[in-house]
Amino acid sequence: MKNILVIGATGQIGSELTLELRKRYGDDHVIAGYIPSAMPKGELKASGPSAIADVTDRQSIEVVARQFKIDTIYNLAALLSVVAESRPAMAWKIGIDGLWNVLEVAREYGCAVFTPSSIGSFGETTPHVKTPQDTIQRPRTMYGVTKVTTELLSDYYYTRYGVDTRAVRFPGIISNVTPPGGGTTDYAVDIYYSAVKGEKFVCPLKPGTYMDMMYMPDALNAAISLMEAAPARLKHRNAFNIAAMSFDPEQIYQEIKKHVPNFEMAYEVDPLKQSIADSWPDSLDDTCAREEWDWKPQYDLESMTVDMLEKLRAKLNK
Ligand code: SER
Repeated sequence: MKNILVIGATGQIGSELTLELRKRYGDDHVIAGYIPSAMPKGELKASGPSAIADVTDRQSIEVVARQFKIDTIYNLAALLSVVAESRPAMAWKIGIDGLWNVLEVAREYGCAVFTPSSIGSFGETTPHVKTPQDTIQRPRTMYGVTKVTTELLSDYYYTRYGVDTRAVRFPGIISNVTPPGGGTTDYAVDIYYSAVKGEKFVCPLKPGTYMDMMYMPDALNAAISLMEAAPARLKHRNAFNIAAMSFDPEQIYQEIKKHVPNFEMAYEVDPLKQSIADSWPDSLDDTCAREEWDWKPQYDLESMTVDMLEKLRAKLNK
């Protein structure tokens, strides 16, 4: 039986990943790790154990690892790309000093570790269309710098110490539960809230700005499937390209308009977000993930839009 710690359990991905892991492995086997400024609430709090697990405080992670006999850590603590530009030192402290703490605890207690990378680990000099698994990674954002470092440090702990580190490069993740904060891809979540609230959406990115995106159920499935994969099949570890859909603001707008005919959108470009988005790939090639651990997404833009609108309507009209 597995005992899992999710660090960042109240965040955008963690809040849903923790519940999904509890469904699969049993409520008592999945610990929601949080920091005091972001305590678990509602179902997350009620459905299983939680504990303080602050990546910047190694002791706090070690205490949880020992107390709950943790064998797998999903380390989701991070600042997203836009906010990392305004707080680069904090982004490094959480992303890299924090990762170091997690990896050291994992080495001592024999835990497997999942620490996501991102489409943000690529930069201007990366081939932008069907970006290969192994290619140039020279990002100029602090978010990207921490993500490339995450990949390298995770691989280092695997080859040097045998710590079972694995990860994916997440695209923009779209969900109807916990909103993201401070990311470049956030617009693709915000646009659904505007549509359901009957508001005009002001898009911070230009038409023609393509980025990879993914619906949350696929993102959760990717993380869990990779951690379950037979190690002998993995030629790569940190981190796998995964892809589900690629669109620009105009395409997601048109897709939503099919269901909300009088939905309006205007463009007001945010230069920082635009420059970050321009430096990221338009679409990733995820062949290695498909070959090495049978990655396959379920949702495309059409089916995601139907589900997002339905779930958000139910949530916002409560
Ligand atoms: N969603 C992230 C961001 O926009 C990308 O991985 O920062």
